[in-house]
Amino acid sequence: MTKPIFARLPGFRDFTPDEFAFREHILNAWRRVSTRYGFLEYDGPPLEPVGLYVEKSGEEILGQLYNFQDKGEREVSLRPEMTPSLARILADHSRSLAKPIRWFSVPQLFRYERQQRGRLREHFQWNVDIVGEESVVADAEVLAVGIDGLRELGFGSNDIVAKISDRRLLSSVLSAFGVDKKNFANVFSIIDKLERSDPKRSLERLQTEGGMSESDAHEVLELFGGKTLEEIALRLGDRKDVSVELERLDSYLGKLEAMGLGPYVELDLRIVRGLAYYTGIVFEIFDKKGELRAICGGGRYDGLLELVGGDPLPAVGFGMGDVVLGELIREKGLVPDIEANTDYYIVILTEEYRDLALSIAHSCRDRGLSVLYGLSEQSVRKQFFAAGKYGAREVIVLGPDEVSRGFATIRDMDSGEEREVPIEELR
Ligand code: HAM
Repeated sequence: MTKPIFARLPGFRDFTPDEFAFREHILNAWRRVSTRYGFLEYDGPPLEPVGLYVEKSGEEILGQLYNFQDKGEREVSLRPEMTPSLARILADHSRSLAKPIRWFSVPQLFRYERQQRGRLREHFQWNVDIVGEESVVADAEVLAVGIDGLRELGFGSNDIVAKISDRRLLSSVLSAFGVDKKNFANVFSIIDKLERSDPKRSLERLQTEGGMSESDAHEVLELFGGKTLEEIALRLGDRKDVSVELERLDSYLGKLEAMGLGPYVELDLRIVRGLAYYTGIVFEIFDKKGELRAICGGGRYDGLLELVGGDPLPAVGFGMGDVVLGELIREKGLVPDIEANTDYYIVILTEEYRDLALSIAHSCRDRGLSVLYGLSEQSVRKQFFAAGKYGAREVIVLGPDEVSRGFATIRDMDSGEEREVPIEELR
């Protein structure tokens, strides 16, 4: 085999029709669910000023920017995520829009990531956001959309789990332990990576970068490793700042329970999220076996709109990528049969009938039917073979016998049954 002269760039995908149909299967499910919840679709440019991401998205994303200087000497970047673009667009438009704003989008995003399973350098990401609503009902609504997007694709509570936390609760616990506010970002980043890091190293970092004593660091790790709010309530529930946060998170869980989504949800205070702008409830959705990277991540970000120059509106949303999700769909055998959908294939017995075939095909297509025929002279056997390959429902046969009487023969490809139809009915 000779090597192609131009190889595809690493981390990018081609979408041949089968792969494209698979991608559309996912994107269409996302769009159906968004519409069911009354979200409106929007989009923005794939290229943005690099400043939109600096300091707003946080270190992790900054290291992954596909950025360069354009010919007008502007510092620009392909969009690595949609949320800053949404904030920028709303900074311009939010005043004239009824609140809360319910918008969704399915952009292709670009991150110069180290390649690993489930992470590429481009992906499609479903973004669903509610802007202008503080209530936890909005937080619950957003997560419900995400879970329903996965249910729509055939997953159940045995397949996926949403892990939930709240940065405000984590902050109040850290304050209770006397951690300086300026060290919160460090501590969050350590907690965010707990599952992927050596526990001893995390303990050390909490002391050196978080300024905690060894025993406090131990205790905080234990509290954040718990699966219920009770341990925190027992240990710190008498502190007003902590109890307010416990109540809010409890109320949020109650709303999800009321929607029947309880089996999909689990408390996990080690979920912090890598992005800098989150301010409240945060969540990530994983495959239940815990083998893959996150399918979805999101949360509340009440400060971002103001940060990009807009009105100070509260906001909550998520992003769900098509890469890990695609792997999981394949793993669970949920790939749909992708059927070719042709109404008629026209078989001509000789080239003499080609113009007749073209005129029938054209008028059928005008009526919205899909019609195919061979583009060059072929044996009848080959034409029937092609009809099968293109998934034709019926074959129109044009031969001297029937055409001389003004008829065509139509064969049903499933049953093999044949009938004669006046040619004028087909045109
Ligand atoms: P994120 O956690 O960076 O959040 O990305 C959300 C999801 O996008 C991930 O859970 C993953 O499925 C997918 N994803 C991210 N990076 C890659 C990659 N390199 N390759 C394949 N898939 C990837 C955000 O982007 C936030 N802006 C989401 C958000 C919207 N928060 C509020 N609104």
